Amino acid sequence: MEQPQLLSKIAMGNGHGEDSPYFDGWKAYDENPYHPTMNPNGVIQMGLAENQLTSDLVEDWIMSNPEASICTLEGVHNFKAMANFQDYHGLSEFRNAVAKFMSRTRGNRVTFDPDRIVMSGGATGAHEVTAFCLADPGDAFLVPTPYYAGFDRDLRWRTGAQLVPVICKSSNNFKLTKQALEEAYEKAKEDNIRVKGLLITNPSNPLGTTMDRTTLRTLVSFINEKRIHLVCDEIYAATIFTHPDFISIAEIIEQDTDIECDRDLIHIVYSLSKDMGFPGFRVGIIYSYNDEVVQCARKMSSFGLVSTQTQYLLASMLSDDEFVERFLTESAKRLEQRHRVFTMGLARVGIKCLQSNGGLFVWMDLHHLLKSPTFEAEMELWKVIIHEVKINVSPGSSFHSSEPGWFRVCYANMDDKAVQVSLQRIRAFVLQNKDLMVSEKKRCWHSDLRLSFKSRRFDDIMMSPHSPIPQSPLVKAST
Ligand SMILES: Cc1ncc(COP(=O)(O)O)c(C=O)c1O
Repeated sequence: MEQPQLLSKIAMGNGHGEDSPYFDGWKAYDENPYHPTMNPNGVIQMGLAENQLTSDLVEDWIMSNPEASICTLEGVHNFKAMANFQDYHGLSEFRNAVAKFMSRTRGNRVTFDPDRIVMSGGATGAHEVTAFCLADPGDAFLVPTPYYAGFDRDLRWRTGAQLVPVICKSSNNFKLTKQALEEAYEKAKEDNIRVKGLLITNPSNPLGTTMDRTTLRTLVSFINEKRIHLVCDEIYAATIFTHPDFISIAEIIEQDTDIECDRDLIHIVYSLSKDMGFPGFRVGIIYSYNDEVVQCARKMSSFGLVSTQTQYLLASMLSDDEFVERFLTESAKRLEQRHRVFTMGLARVGIKCLQSNGGLFVWMDLHHLLKSPTFEAEMELWKVIIHEVKINVSPGSSFHSSEPGWFRVCYANMDDKAVQVSLQRIRAFVLQNKDLMVSEKKRCWHSDLRLSFKSRRFDDIMMSPHSPIPQSPLVKAST
């Protein structure tokens, strides 16, 4: 007799995407996490886009403002009111502070209406709510590649919506073009897929680049022409460390009045996970210019509200203009420095990255180390990097890259010493590989990789008195 299915299709399916290398890398790290003294041969987590460079500034502010926390002597008088409050509009002080912060992170060139601020559980929840508001099961969003791996989960899994890739290439630094958009749109139409929107991430994860004004104008024209929505993930709005400045879609629709735009089609997804370094607070924002979307999203936000304790604290912190100014300036400075140290370290061993001006990562080009120009070869190289070099980076394939050989490497979720250790490991690996290439008359790296761990040259590099690692993980792997 046929057994009844006990669980739902969602529960039984793989829509979450946990089986991808993106998450496998996290698992490898979880099983053997690097620690400078307790586990110096462990895996270094460079797959996590988290900004830990400015935590000290936030800690200082919290200590100087004990009344902003409801679990302190100075703030406990507000505990009961906060614990009881549960309106899904959120605290008005919180919405005002977030609207002001969003304006500040866009250079105060635009303003945001606090009444349009809808809360959600991080940008993750914001994307799902937006997708629920805009698309029916089977409908699709165009998404330029490479794109953030979590979108497959956030936009598709529970909503039944689809993502249609818009192919961007290294030949023009992965810039999104009108032609690529048209091609993707036409292809979807041929496949009988109804396109409901275009989703962009600006600044980009994983590229770390920002879109220029011309591109943004092209997008606005494109979506208006097709009568589809434009969802702009601006989660890295203030995670910019050098020129050019970030331009928000809000600036285009407010300032570029020469292009026609139906504002009902424009929606911004934001979060404090990156710009403030608060991924644990789960503060996500849906900012829509469409009244109906605001109303619907607000009703749906009941499933993922931000706790009032967090709202209360942030209302106070983000209203402190002097702190916000100092924080953002210092954050950009520290990011720039970290980015410079890391990319220069890579450049010294001949590794290039896509030139970027923001984000918490670099888009690293290792195509010259691939055995063949295929995604299988990319996966092989990734396995060596994770299991032997012991660095968790994310392969381009997990971001739907159209070209093999690119890897996203995060550099802001660790201290200076861990960065040096990671560079040392990469350096050792690349130099080893280079030696092999020469001595074996360019035989592929993979077949002789294990052999290479025992070579004299490798030991020279890793056991040098200047090496920050007492014992190389690669040496360990070879014994
Ligand atoms: C582009 C992008 N969107 C959304 C998210 C999810 O952010 P949150 O932690 O706010 O859910 C991330 C996190 O890495 C991201 O990079």
